[in-house]
Amino acid sequence: MNAIKELPDELISQIAAGEVIERPASVVRELIDNALDAGATQITLRLLAGGVRSIVVEDNGTGIPRAQLTLALKRHATSKIASLTDLESLNTMGFRGEALAAVSSVSDMSITSQTADQPHAWRIDARTGEVSPAARSTGTTIDVRELFFSTPARRKFLKTDATELAHCVEAARRHALARPDVAFAIWSDGKLHDQWLVTTHPLARMAQVLGDELAVKCLALNHTVGTASMTGFIGTPDVARARADQQYCYVNGRFVRDKVIGHAVRQAFSDVLHGARQPVYVLFVTIDPARVDVNVHPTKIEVRFRDSRDVHSVAYHAVQNALAAPRSGAESPAVRPELATGVSANLGFDRLSPNGEGLSPSGFSSQTYRPDYSQQGRLHINEAAALWPPAPMQPSSLQPSSLPLATLATNDEMLESWTLGRAIAQLQGIYVLAENAQGLVIVDMHAAHERIVYESLKNQLEGPASQRIASQPLLVPATFAATPEEVACAEAHAQTLVQLGLEVSAFSPKTLAVRAVPASLLNGDAVALARTVLANLAEFDNADSAQALVAQARNALLSSMACHGAVRANRKLNLDEMNALLRQMEVTERSDQCNHGRPTWRQISIKELDALFMRGR
Ligand SMILES: Nc1ncnc2c1ncn2[C@@H]1O[C@H](COP(=O)(O)OP(=O)(O)OP(=O)(O)O)[C@@H](O)[C@H]1O
Ligand SMILES: [Mg+2]
Repeated sequence: MNAIKELPDELISQIAAGEVIERPASVVRELIDNALDAGATQITLRLLAGGVRSIVVEDNGTGIPRAQLTLALKRHATSKIASLTDLESLNTMGFRGEALAAVSSVSDMSITSQTADQPHAWRIDARTGEVSPAARSTGTTIDVRELFFSTPARRKFLKTDATELAHCVEAARRHALARPDVAFAIWSDGKLHDQWLVTTHPLARMAQVLGDELAVKCLALNHTVGTASMTGFIGTPDVARARADQQYCYVNGRFVRDKVIGHAVRQAFSDVLHGARQPVYVLFVTIDPARVDVNVHPTKIEVRFRDSRDVHSVAYHAVQNALAAPRSGAESPAVRPELATGVSANLGFDRLSPNGEGLSPSGFSSQTYRPDYSQQGRLHINEAAALWPPAPMQPSSLQPSSLPLATLATNDEMLESWTLGRAIAQLQGIYVLAENAQGLVIVDMHAAHERIVYESLKNQLEGPASQRIASQPLLVPATFAATPEEVACAEAHAQTLVQLGLEVSAFSPKTLAVRAVPASLLNGDAVALARTVLANLAEFDNADSAQALVAQARNALLSSMACHGAVRANRKLNLDEMNALLRQMEVTERSDQCNHGRPTWRQISIKELDALFMRGR
């Protein structure tokens, strides 16, 4: 083995740079961090060949005085902290004094900067250290050329220019979403690639960066638990994606990937998301800087919380609450004034101060975006569930008087005020068509009813009074030939079955009798229901008996019960029954998605209909 030798400074820097600068996008991230720390309100990014040939970041921040240009390039030289305790009240992106040194050690870099009080700007060439007069207005331009030219091994790992460009743009998006008060422009190979103007509202910035459709289909949230609070937006389940590529999470304004928050959000979405779909979100956690450690990862993408339980809880409840409220009607521009009026809208979003205070957008509340359901005198979900669907025998023979909700629904004026509107027809035995102030509403009857039944079952089981599902004895017990396993399972779980609103007992050694079923599932096939429940219970037994009580397993069971009880396709409904279904959806939590995460209803606006018929308005 060779003798131990001290490494030369340049090599030390290059090795250290390897941790911080992985690809052109890392340079973009660091340079925009610096521009924001300097109080810039306008940041321009210019890329050549996806940033591999050149990355230029221009800002209108405070600039670097000539006397400090050399120091800015030195390792461990920073203007942002002076002691370890400063880290506990950090309100800047930077703190290590390492980024510029790292970038300059693996590229050909120069800084041109002008402050408010110098007669002209100065430029420093990082390679030679030479300082020369230059011209530019107050602010800083950092010019990075030929990244990794001195470290060919690293250069080999770069992907195509198009891929590197996409990563650079993504790095800029991450900053832009958190700072609507800063204008961004991105140029690629001489062409304007993206431009995000200053806006006063984070939702307007979200529309600019992630698209209008998402901004319209998202829910605002705002929640506090202990030392942590969370604001932001989540996409409704129907804009969920196949990839987790639109999940933005910020802690005190810094973009992070955090397991605790990620887990909480996934858990909150679990009941409404279809299959492996990935939710879309932009979430801002605000927490006392003393209670979060930002110094745990070389690229600062991870943080560590002192109170990770609070953080988990705030994220879970913020998302869960936002998802729970039925959103019927929330997609109309009428309730999204900040989008209708575009970037000029001001809904009380606190402007961010340039020094980074109040980095997290705050001052907007979920109330702004959603109609207030409490005002409409709606029924509690359990009352509503008891009224629909009508008795199984002959839907058309039902007297409206036997359906208080339906009677109420014949009043035209009342219908105007209901968000899902007034039923007008049934289509192909599958869809209910309704008319509301925005236009046409289409409801997937089975999917919607399935959610209503499911939520009602959950509510009954969780209800403080009963903690069991209301059951209804069958006039004639339904018997079926059962396997020995099914008979054993029915005996072993008699107690659980009662809780679930079922009464299943042995009629003979090989026959089971269903004597009672949940009142809200009276419509369904009692035998099929009992078989499903027994199969589910047997499965839990095999997995782990304690599992049976776990909420998730229980919800899966209730969900399959709901499917049995929900109204089937091809069932003819009259208008009163259809209206009653709409009213129930409006009072049911999470009613915008069926139990499998598919949407239960869609709005087609008059504008869209007009467009179909090329009708100018
Ligand atoms: N765009 C800029 N405008 C004004 N000053 C800047 C700019 N970029 C860098 N500086 C100055 O140069 C110093 C060094 O920047 P550098 O990015 O290397 O370190 P840092 O931001 O302090 O910490 P970190 O390594 O965590 O980013 C900064 O502390 C700041 O004073
Ligand atoms: Mg920095």
